[in-house]
Amino acid sequence: MLLHVQRIAVPFEYPVYFTEGVFSPSNADLASAIAAREPRRRHRVLPVIDGGVAAAWPSIAEDIALYVGAHAERLSLVAEPIVVPGGEASKNDGAATAALQARLDALGMDRQSFVMIVGGGAVLDMAGYAAATVHRGVRVVRIPTTVLAQADSGVGVKNGVNAFGKKNLLGTFAPPFAVLIDPRFLETLSLRDKVAGMAEAVKVALIRDARLFSWLTEHAPALASGSLAPLATLVRRSAEIHLQHIATAGDPFELGSARPLDFGHWAAHKLESLTRHRLRHGEAVAIGIAIDTVYAELAGLCSEATAAAVLSTLEALGFALWDDALALTRGGGERGERLCVLDGLDEFREHLGGELTVTLLEDVGRAREVHAMEERHIVAAIARLRERAGRRGAPAAAGAAGAARS
Ligand SMILES: NC(=O)c1ccc[n+]([C@@H]2O[C@H](COP(=O)([O-])OP(=O)(O)OC[C@H]3O[C@@H](n4cnc5c(N)ncnc54)[C@H](O)[C@@H]3O)[C@@H](O)[C@H]2O)c1
Ligand SMILES: [Zn+2]
Repeated sequence: MLLHVQRIAVPFEYPVYFTEGVFSPSNADLASAIAAREPRRRHRVLPVIDGGVAAAWPSIAEDIALYVGAHAERLSLVAEPIVVPGGEASKNDGAATAALQARLDALGMDRQSFVMIVGGGAVLDMAGYAAATVHRGVRVVRIPTTVLAQADSGVGVKNGVNAFGKKNLLGTFAPPFAVLIDPRFLETLSLRDKVAGMAEAVKVALIRDARLFSWLTEHAPALASGSLAPLATLVRRSAEIHLQHIATAGDPFELGSARPLDFGHWAAHKLESLTRHRLRHGEAVAIGIAIDTVYAELAGLCSEATAAAVLSTLEALGFALWDDALALTRGGGERGERLCVLDGLDEFREHLGGELTVTLLEDVGRAREVHAMEERHIVAAIARLRERAGRRGAPAAAGAAGAARS
């Protein structure tokens, strides 16, 4: 007997500011964002800062303290900022997440206190997950500091950490309280991270906005050199498209199987783990986009000219579209060897649940979903990228740089 069908609708709303000098005392955006719902209260704020940002901006703790002091009628500091290691290491280290959760508890962070996370996508994911699970959700203000985090993850509704060898296995959907994008943070970002973050902008341009793709192609030389003015434009446009998609595509919490914003990601996530995160997320996404684009050409979904345009723009932006991890195989014996990266497709299916749904390009700005991919075309697409890298005399450029660093 069906007793009742319970229906709950929970509207979410969060402001996204694009602002310069977010911690300048004269800039009221941060204080206004925090005080928006209860303007007459003094709000408790606990900063959590990415170690890379803390190193690049040595006065940041002092700047935040001065800011809070200048807005003391609306803000108070819970404690000195907590600095956590930057980069993927923070998502791989379960103990770091637990330590942060314990600290939030010890500092008496309640559901109306604010964790203000300042950092790249990895720290936003890790600290966001910690904050979302303590008391089932402490308020979070995000201040993303990388191209990727400003253009994509920082404005979205997800967080997560890596566990049991899998990327983003543990995580929640948790819209932030507010997001403040300050392009000045990009001044100290390495060229490698500037370039890596652009992959997500190429991704949304390809599936949603042909004009943005033309703009990226036109400005590729300036972007590839790390020039800040075009980067700020890229960030802003990409963030707007991501926000619009999340608000209007009908599935913000990804309950169905379609996942257009994960274009290029089935291979990317696998490459990240195959390289033990030697490749940055964005670098892996660029390769994933290249594989799926050549695949679309081989499968007759898009034209040769479209595929050529995608590959050359990615290269002009500074991406290497080949990494030796693409050639890794396993198995052997009677069933023959199989490229390890192909497992990424099975893992993607498992993550989605239900039917495999992969977004592929029909043209620049026009995507379509497919529910199966032919292995022989994937293998051929990968072979094509290898051959292309060899011809350009630049095999595994990103991989080599990454290896030198790791
Ligand atoms: N939640 C989501 O929806 C979502 C979406 C896309 C990507 N992601 C995740 O984001 C992560 C990648 O994020 P990322 O590309 O920002 O890299 P990252 O967070 O790994 O940061 C890269 C490096 O830059 C440093 N850094 C950050 N800001 C800096 C600054 N302003 N100046 C100098 N150094 C700085 C960091 O300390 C780190 O060493 C991946 O884990 C990916 O899975 C999440
Ligand atoms: Zn991504």
